[in-house]
Amino acid sequence: MGLKPVTCKAMPVTVALAVVLILCSLVFSSMASVSYDNKALIINGRRKILISGSIHYPRSTPEMWPDLIQKAKEGGLDVIQTYVFWNGHEPQQGKYYFEGRYDLVRFIKLIKEAGLYAHLRVGPYVCAEWNFGGFPVWLKYVPGISFRTDNGPFKAAMEKFTRKIVDMMKVEGLYESQGGPIILSQIENEYGPLEYELGAPGKAYANWAAKMAVGLGTGVPWVMCKQDDAPDPVINTCNGFYCDYFSPNKAYKPKIWTEAWTGWFTQFGGAVPYRPAEDLAFSVARFIQKGGSYINYYMYHGGTNFGRTSGGPFITTSYDYDAPLDEYGLLRQPKWGHLKDLHRAIKLCEPALLASDATMISLGNYQEAHVFKSKTGSCAAFLANYDAHSFAKVTFGNLHYNIPPWSISILPDCKNTVYNTARMGAQSAEMKMTPVVYGAGFSWQSFNEEPDSYDVNTFTTMGLMEQINITRDVSDYLWYMTDVKIDANEEFLRSGKYPVLQASSAGHALHVFINGQLSGSAYGSLESPKLTFSGGVNLRAGVNKIALLSIAVGLPNIGPHFETWKAGVLGPTSLYNLNEGRRDLSWQNWSYKIGLKGEDLSLHSLSGSSSVEWVTSSMVTQRQPLTWYKATFNAPYGREPLALDMSSMGKGQAWINGESIGRYWPAYKASGNCAACNYAGWFNEKKCLKSCGEPTQRWYHVPRSWLKPTGNLLVVFEEWGGDPFHISMVKREVATVCADIYEWQPTLVNWQLQTSGKVNKPLRPKAHLSCAPGQHISSIKFASFGTPEGSCGSFRQGSCHAFHSYDAFQKLCIGENSCTVTVAPAMFGGDPCPSVMKKLSVEAVCS
Ligand code: GAL
Repeated sequence: MGLKPVTCKAMPVTVALAVVLILCSLVFSSMASVSYDNKALIINGRRKILISGSIHYPRSTPEMWPDLIQKAKEGGLDVIQTYVFWNGHEPQQGKYYFEGRYDLVRFIKLIKEAGLYAHLRVGPYVCAEWNFGGFPVWLKYVPGISFRTDNGPFKAAMEKFTRKIVDMMKVEGLYESQGGPIILSQIENEYGPLEYELGAPGKAYANWAAKMAVGLGTGVPWVMCKQDDAPDPVINTCNGFYCDYFSPNKAYKPKIWTEAWTGWFTQFGGAVPYRPAEDLAFSVARFIQKGGSYINYYMYHGGTNFGRTSGGPFITTSYDYDAPLDEYGLLRQPKWGHLKDLHRAIKLCEPALLASDATMISLGNYQEAHVFKSKTGSCAAFLANYDAHSFAKVTFGNLHYNIPPWSISILPDCKNTVYNTARMGAQSAEMKMTPVVYGAGFSWQSFNEEPDSYDVNTFTTMGLMEQINITRDVSDYLWYMTDVKIDANEEFLRSGKYPVLQASSAGHALHVFINGQLSGSAYGSLESPKLTFSGGVNLRAGVNKIALLSIAVGLPNIGPHFETWKAGVLGPTSLYNLNEGRRDLSWQNWSYKIGLKGEDLSLHSLSGSSSVEWVTSSMVTQRQPLTWYKATFNAPYGREPLALDMSSMGKGQAWINGESIGRYWPAYKASGNCAACNYAGWFNEKKCLKSCGEPTQRWYHVPRSWLKPTGNLLVVFEEWGGDPFHISMVKREVATVCADIYEWQPTLVNWQLQTSGKVNKPLRPKAHLSCAPGQHISSIKFASFGTPEGSCGSFRQGSCHAFHSYDAFQKLCIGENSCTVTVAPAMFGGDPCPSVMKKLSVEAVCS
């Protein structure tokens, strides 16, 4: 019996599309243009060393994307990696959104236009300090669901979304197998540890996920990160601060590092982590010398958690991450430049790295050489000194090398050092936030939220209810309101010793209002989101209104079954010191209201803000809790990134022209140990911290593209009672640039000049100073050739100093956008201390 020919005409469109996709996927898998072997990914028949960086598209604006991608390319990246953010794409079940900051296809196409590859980590669980780890909140309420395990409803939903994304990429021709930029995908995220905890159902789910993904026939490999038992052909990969110890689970899989953490995330109340560039470069060089061929910086640009997208709870709005591109998309120097130099050095070694396995030669107790030699004669060597305290003098191939502590020297010809991870040729830059002056500042109008306003949306029930179950996360806010009757005989009415209210909440923050007055607040932290408010409350004889405003600060994104974690006032909630002793309020009638009145009225938007009477500027009172403020302003001139300095405020949210710039909470001060930190020695996220004692986050990014030339609407909702009159708009600029270079420090440029035969003697390094476009060098703040000490921003002269250290910079740099000065004694009036190892430190002011 012959098969009937299938014609599209006879089929509904969806079926036709499915058939086309199935046929296509069969074709893709047979002509896969990306494959792998033990050494590397193979693209169109060629092994490649690939340098990748994470840029999450919703953490910046589409207007910023081309510039970010271009700067990544200039920084030496081959690949851009991103997660796919399910809850951004399917905010309501079955209602999809792929526009604005969620225009995934546009983002991937921009990567292609820039000539780069893409790594699409579909997840759809992504962790990422993103609200609910990327899961839409409605998913939790699908009957019978259990996340990330062998559960029918969950697997069905996960497969549906994964397929949707893969099909979308295919239709747009975005896989490399179709001529597109996507060379790699990812399913799940760091499932290994959870699988271990869950046992058999975990294992079954991991296998299912891998099979489901592979079955989608993308024509490019899939990875599972932190998943030691990832089934073939899925590649298991490493995430961490160091991954040189990692080996894939099969000898025929390449060694891939999906998350090389460039810094760490920040939580409200915590100090701000940073990771020295020397240590990051060292960790990458360690990985490459051990045969790694693919490294992805997590994050290359961290960006901003706009709106209510941050997870945690308590993750800050800034997701800067100390990444090579800062939150605003500007180069973070010296990190960006130091990594760029590293990438060039690695690429010079690529032929040898890909052609052979390394031979390890011990050079001392803590010193090793890793040597790669190809049959065609190329040779590359990495000389490592793991000693965190001392320089190492080593001999390699009859030559002597002096390797700084905790560093690796890269020798692309097995002879000459072109790069050392602890020696920065790149300039560093100090940034500043310059206020943009608007006459007397913003001219505010205000609108007060009534703390206990009941309306049609209020409902009453006995007892205390879980918050997310009620709000479904449409708002951070949930009111818990109840009445308390106080008898005229109460002793405290005479003694003046107020009763104490104790209210226990599963998280995350709570404001207590008694008869309309703010009585106090309490809040948790990322480590312990739970809180108990305990404080004296001013009750009067008769009926008192207790209103508890419970606030979520981002839903959890990690942990076993984090979807079951609770928030809100779950009790016990009691009054103490009454005549009866303790009165338990937990089981009496409570009224609930989701969100704020101002949210119902969309006061943050242009249209909504005109729906109420605002108090005019002259009457606005400060330090009033639960207050909405609005002001209009014109866009500041220039192209520098903008931010709001919110240091005078407490806690709340802010919007520009209806777009949420996120949650602000400068009143939450950073705690931690901010002692000086040395790049040498093992790094972890607590090692290097800054901003202790200051607001964890003071500045909030205002994307330029959200502004019109005039008449922009700024709306702020303040919970605690901050001072809006001291909010200011600032622009982010380069303040000063520095170079800190040793004489005879090897550089790649000099090596290239020597190997090309253009020069035949060792060359001096050069100090490059470069202000941002549109700026010029206005003065030299510091210059010393000799033995200067300190770092950019705090250089000081050492015991040896050339008196003419400033001269060359005064002459060559002032008035210029950038300049170059050779680090040689002759430039500074002669050698100030022969036979001492000297360096140049210089700091120039950009204006
Ligand atoms: C990883 C995770 C990322 C991110 C990171 C910390 O374990 O895969 O999504 O959460 O930790 O920033």
